[in-house]
Amino acid sequence: MPVPHRMPPNVPAPAGRVRRRAVLVGGAVAAACGVAMARQAPLLLRFSHVVAPDTPKGQMALRLQALLHERSGGRIRVEIYPDSQLWGDDDEMEALRLGAVEMLAPSLSKFGMAGVPEFEVFDLPFLFRDLAQVRRVTQGRVGRELLERLGRQQMVGLGFLDNGFKQMSAHRPLRRPADFAGLRVRVQASQVLGAQMRALGARPVVLPFGETQRALATGVVDAAENPLSNYLTQQLAPLQPHVTLTQHGYLGYAVVTHPRWWEHLGRADRALVRQALDEALQHGNRLAAGLDQAALASLRTQPGVQVHMLGATNRDALRQAVQPVVEQFRRGVGPELLDAVHGAIGDAA
Ligand code: LMR
Repeated sequence: MPVPHRMPPNVPAPAGRVRRRAVLVGGAVAAACGVAMARQAPLLLRFSHVVAPDTPKGQMALRLQALLHERSGGRIRVEIYPDSQLWGDDDEMEALRLGAVEMLAPSLSKFGMAGVPEFEVFDLPFLFRDLAQVRRVTQGRVGRELLERLGRQQMVGLGFLDNGFKQMSAHRPLRRPADFAGLRVRVQASQVLGAQMRALGARPVVLPFGETQRALATGVVDAAENPLSNYLTQQLAPLQPHVTLTQHGYLGYAVVTHPRWWEHLGRADRALVRQALDEALQHGNRLAAGLDQAALASLRTQPGVQVHMLGATNRDALRQAVQPVVEQFRRGVGPELLDAVHGAIGDAA
């Protein structure tokens, strides 16, 4: 079994308003389970993720920690390991299977390689126009059915979380397909994302998120696609001063746990964790668009960073260039699923 390479101290629960509200909202659940909880053993929930605390995922995990602390009277302890400190992209799902972590929120792009290729539907370029469209899929029947499919790979899917739309960064603006020619672009381990970069004439290089910054610094790769909160918090600006607002694809997460741990919890604790997580996800989803806007505003003031808009003509040219990828992967993600996604969005397939 792999050994965690770094064990940071617990991230403290936020105080004040969150705490008071958590007490109120959690009152009913806590009252129902209170007597039983007092007699129950302490419970540890290790939550490992690869991004910074100041992102939708980081903030969602902190809210979960605060809610469970309050509602269990400190009995349920959530230890959060951000920034790939405990597990990274290469080993986090294996760690979950082995019981070396209890909860993860990998990006949807990472479930294809984990044996659930349907999740790569979210990677299809230019599929969603905005987060409202994404939510019609993730928060409805299609989303529920997708979460159930994670059971095939020994995961319990607990909910979806947004980050936002990906933008391109490089040492030059990337407005037109020709601008991508020959660039080595870091991508997540998703077949769709690889094909998308090849369609643009670039060379996709699959790398764990935690290795991306170093790969950009050392010239192993030349460009990357990230939502702005990740670009900002990974300090990519000095390495990749040109950000082109391509908005070409969505990046979101599914929170997962292992069925063994989930079943072992018992009914009362499962309800407690479920309720707290639902609220934490709502919190993260409420924050997502704001963090994206805040990251953009911050980047616009950073010396050296140049933010490039994409006009309608260039956007159409990029969309045309990657359109074959949608056809290519229709079968891979499942034609019925793709039709159901279009149906939920309200588009004709
Ligand atoms: C990535 O690898 O680029 C993202 O999945 C990182 C994240 O979790 O937002």
